[in-house]
Amino acid sequence: MKITVVGAGNVGATCADVIAHKELCNELVLVDIKENFAEGKALDMWQTAPINLYDTRITGSTSDYSKTADSDVVVITSGLPRKPGMSRDDLISTNAGIVKSVTENIIKYSPNAIIIVVSNPLDVMTYCAYLSAKVDSSKVFGMAGILDTARYRAFLATELNCSPKDIQAVLMGGHGDTMVPLPRYTTVGGIPVTELIAKDKLDAIVDRTKKGGGEIVNLLGTSAWYAPGAAAAQMVEAIVRDQKRIYPVCAWLQGEYGLKDVYLGVPVVLGKNGIEKIIELQLNDEEKALLNDSAIAVKEVMDVLDKLNAAN
Ligand code: LAC
Repeated sequence: MKITVVGAGNVGATCADVIAHKELCNELVLVDIKENFAEGKALDMWQTAPINLYDTRITGSTSDYSKTADSDVVVITSGLPRKPGMSRDDLISTNAGIVKSVTENIIKYSPNAIIIVVSNPLDVMTYCAYLSAKVDSSKVFGMAGILDTARYRAFLATELNCSPKDIQAVLMGGHGDTMVPLPRYTTVGGIPVTELIAKDKLDAIVDRTKKGGGEIVNLLGTSAWYAPGAAAAQMVEAIVRDQKRIYPVCAWLQGEYGLKDVYLGVPVVLGKNGIEKIIELQLNDEEKALLNDSAIAVKEVMDVLDKLNAAN
C-alpha cells in the first residue's frame, strides 16, 4: 500500500504523521513545491518511527511526482491557507491553479489513485480536481464533513461534559457558512441530543460549528491543521482498510437530494473503491431548504472556476 500526501505544510504534515502512526501503508510520500521542505519533514517524521514504533517508510520530494508513482490513495492539501478576514472563497484563483497542476501530475503517475482533496475552497477545489483527473467521481472527493462534525461533536462534548467518543453526528452541505449540521441526527450514547440540551444552547453550538474554521483562523492567524489533518487521515483509513465507514464527504451529486452536477457534503459509505454509496436521508422541509441554499452557494463558486477555466 502506497499513500502520497501533497503539500507538506501544517495540514499535510499532520495528516502524514497520523497515517504513519496508524501504519496505514508501507510507503508514504510527502511532496511539496518548496525546495527540500518535504524531504526535511519526512526525515524528521521517519526519525520518530523508532520512538513511536511504526514501520511506515516516509520519504519526501520537491515536486518530483515520479516518486509518487503507483500510489493507492493521494491526499491533496496544497494551496494557500486563509488569513484573518479572508473567506475560503477568496483563495479560489490561486488554489485552483495549484490543485489543477497537482492533480494532473498525480494522475500521470498514479492513474488508479483515489484522490482526497483538502485544499480550500474545499467543495470547488474538489470539483477542480475532478475536472483535471478525468476519472470516476467515486474516486475524487473532498474532506470537510468529518472536520465539521468533529468540531460540532467537540463543542457538544464540552457542553455536556461527556466523552466525545459517545457523540455521533452527521452534517451536510458545503464547507462554509452554509454547512448544515443536523441536530435531528445527532445522538449521545444513543440518546437524541435534543433530549439532553436546551434548544438555544444547541443553536449556539450549531452556529459556532459553522464558523469553526474562522474561529481558529482568528486565534492563530492561519487556518487549522490538527483536526483537518486527522480528519483526512481517517478517510484514508476507511479506504485502505476497506472499512465501509459512513462519513460525511464532499461528493459529486448526480440527482441525489434533487441536486445535480454539484460537489456537496453528504453521508457516504467509504471503502476500498472510494465512495461506494451515497446515503440519502429523509430530510424534512427545513433541512432540505438549508441544503439547497448550500448547494446554490457552492454552485456560485463553481461557476467562478468554470469562468476562470474558460478564460485560460
Ligand atoms: C478549516 C479549514 C481547513 O475549516 O477549512 O479549518
